[in-house]
Amino acid sequence: MTTVATPLSPTRSLPTPTEPVECNAEHRTARLATRAVHAGRDDLTALGVHVPPIDLSTTTPLPDIATGGAAYEHLATGARPLPAQPLVYQRLWNPTVDRFEQALAELERAEEAVAFATGMAAMSATLLACVAAGQRHIVAIRPIYGGTDHILATGLLGTEVTWARPEEVAAALRPDTGLVVLETPANPTLDLVDIAAVVRAAGEVPVLVDNTFATPVLQQPLTLGASLVLHSATKFIGGHGDVLGGVVATSAPWAARLRQMRAITGGLLHPLAAYELHRGLQTLPVRVRAAQQGAQVVADWLAAHPAITQVYYPGRQDPDGLVGRQMSGPGSMLAFAVRGGYAAASRVASGCRLVTHAVSLGGVDSLIQHPAALTHRPVSEEARPHDDVLRLSVGLEDPEDLIADLARALA
Ligand SMILES: Cc1ncc(COP(=O)(O)O)c(C=O)c1O
Repeated sequence: MTTVATPLSPTRSLPTPTEPVECNAEHRTARLATRAVHAGRDDLTALGVHVPPIDLSTTTPLPDIATGGAAYEHLATGARPLPAQPLVYQRLWNPTVDRFEQALAELERAEEAVAFATGMAAMSATLLACVAAGQRHIVAIRPIYGGTDHILATGLLGTEVTWARPEEVAAALRPDTGLVVLETPANPTLDLVDIAAVVRAAGEVPVLVDNTFATPVLQQPLTLGASLVLHSATKFIGGHGDVLGGVVATSAPWAARLRQMRAITGGLLHPLAAYELHRGLQTLPVRVRAAQQGAQVVADWLAAHPAITQVYYPGRQDPDGLVGRQMSGPGSMLAFAVRGGYAAASRVASGCRLVTHAVSLGGVDSLIQHPAALTHRPVSEEARPHDDVLRLSVGLEDPEDLIADLARALA
């Protein structure tokens, strides 16, 4: 009978963001676009293949009971496999998922990364790791993705949240605070938060940054002192609207805690999804920069339109000067308020033809949606986005065609 060790002790140490491990030294010093293409693929030539093999095994043959048991014990507590150790069971370890994790960690300048079935599975595992360590109090900054807001506000996983503005973070901390959670740019109104300032205010408490909107192409929060970076990989990382995933890039001790939680709760990424996400990383810098160019054009056009009362876009609205300092560019997500409130917003969303009326974001095609009714529906009324706000994820279409579509919908 195997016994699973007690949870790993909580750690509050910051990662060493500039020293990613387990990646080819040549690529580590290369620029981001180069690392995006090659990360997690260093051994392919030696293997005699050009693209990563996909390992779909749910279980692996064991040489004997003692070796199998020892491997089970080792992996179920969140450790990485030892050389030649059997991988036992896909819920404990999968080589295809590991490749994607290594690549993402390299781009985020993390020691390690841990991938999950979705962004919400990644967030849930992180919160559960805090609860398991007796640190159930979470300080969170709004606005934030509606699903994250919901899970924190309800306390469904045993956490207790204090909502704070960035300048209130220090005062909100308690001895049992396990995490400070923030998003920048934030979903849906693209508010920017000064990561380094929040890290200073949080002191010893780890800061988690949801980097879904910025991606490591525009912003690498670990280099600013954050302890964990979370992605809904469903979005820009996948980039084509055909794969769900989530990932947390962090220090080795935190990664072990998250792998242990993943092994126990089972929110793991499927290897086929990991393959797609790993492929998505190769074009991530090109996609993010091209979509960003289009977004700036669309945002400027919207701002001059008489039916628009406000445009939310970091390329136009950046009171603390964080674009260029914290983020290398404003990204391709924007939101805008339509004159005429809910009814007008509803007509615009339904009136788009080229832009698809659908939730999600970060894909090659543009998507528009109404946050108050959809992605942020569960958010309590005082924090919910206004009824006249639409969120637009600008894709890779020619911005002039997007403008023509929006002009028709706004007319
Ligand atoms: C910023 C952000 N974080 C997290 C999530 C949750 O990700 P998933 O839908 O992959 O669970 C989303 C989803 O829209 C998001 O926009």
